Amino acid sequence: MFFASDNTSPVAPQIMDALAKANESYRASYGNDDEMDEVRRLVREVFEAPQAEVYLVATGTTANVLSLATLVQPWQAIYCHRKAHIAVDECGAPEFYTGGAKLEYVDGAHGKMTPEALETAISAQVKGDVHSVQPGALSVTNVTEAGTVYTADELTALNKLAKSHGVRTHLDGSRFGNAVVSTGSTPAELSWKAGVDVLSFGGTKNGLMGAEAVILFDPDLAWEFELRRKRGGHLFSKHRYLSAQMAAYLTDGLWLDLAKHSNAAAAKLSAGMQAIPDVELLHSVEANLIFARMPRGRHRRAIEAGAKYSGIDLNGEEDERLASRLVCSWSTTDDDVATFVSHLR
Ligand SMILES: Cc1ncc(COP(=O)(O)O)c(C=O)c1O
Repeated sequence: MFFASDNTSPVAPQIMDALAKANESYRASYGNDDEMDEVRRLVREVFEAPQAEVYLVATGTTANVLSLATLVQPWQAIYCHRKAHIAVDECGAPEFYTGGAKLEYVDGAHGKMTPEALETAISAQVKGDVHSVQPGALSVTNVTEAGTVYTADELTALNKLAKSHGVRTHLDGSRFGNAVVSTGSTPAELSWKAGVDVLSFGGTKNGLMGAEAVILFDPDLAWEFELRRKRGGHLFSKHRYLSAQMAAYLTDGLWLDLAKHSNAAAAKLSAGMQAIPDVELLHSVEANLIFARMPRGRHRRAIEAGAKYSGIDLNGEEDERLASRLVCSWSTTDDDVATFVSHLR
């Protein structure tokens, strides 16, 4: 009953096999390995983007902040949701890597920015006024931090608006596979066709040991990105181990199969929880994240039975209602779900 995060899940066996294979013999270093050629080919095929350039890094934070640094100047603004990972969970890395670009928070219910709120935020900056930061980039997260999912139309509306102000666009797709599965849209429809310039394409939460791709749909950004990755200390010498993971992930739709499993597990878990009268779901469950509020007594039963999920203080009144986040992954089993729900009951 490990629902603390999809980061707590093991590595998918297909990825371990690919790592073992990549461990045979010698390879060129620093991204010149054969596996990386395969990653480029697969990314261009899967995203229907023959011009795209792709680079690998080991963490989602690195993918986000190097992407943003490539899109903005230090005196520009990055628009993101107030609860975005870049806003609350990256320890100032976006500001650090961009040389001080300013994060401007955009509100919106259930983790989603609205075009109206984005318009207000961008219009608040006075273009051409030396006293004001200048509009720079929009960063949207899909799956959102609330576990909801932007449709291709919703994304297109935000990105179109940004571009009408000369603002470039980034997508934090740390759970991109879950978003694709949830919407039924193609990878292209949820990225460049919706106006995304740069995508952080996640893998670690969905079965990889540690590899994330940055996909640049505008190849003119590639050289700057490469220099920033090296200068930031994120160009791996034994790069084949990143490439091997990403190549296996993209082969035969493995990434989508893994995401399908985690989304389906969250659907089952949330259905089981929702059937309990005093369990309240805080956002609709559209991918693999569940936010729920329930009495401390129910949390206690689950936690004392061994369930792991976001910090619940067990000291206090049994009927006090406490919010929690539960995350399913490619390795969540039906048994995990059923056992957890039975303890809640
Ligand atoms: C939405 C989102 N973006 C990015 C990340 C990447 O984080 P990390 O640097 O921990 O791999 C996470 C991880 O929790 C996340 O939830």
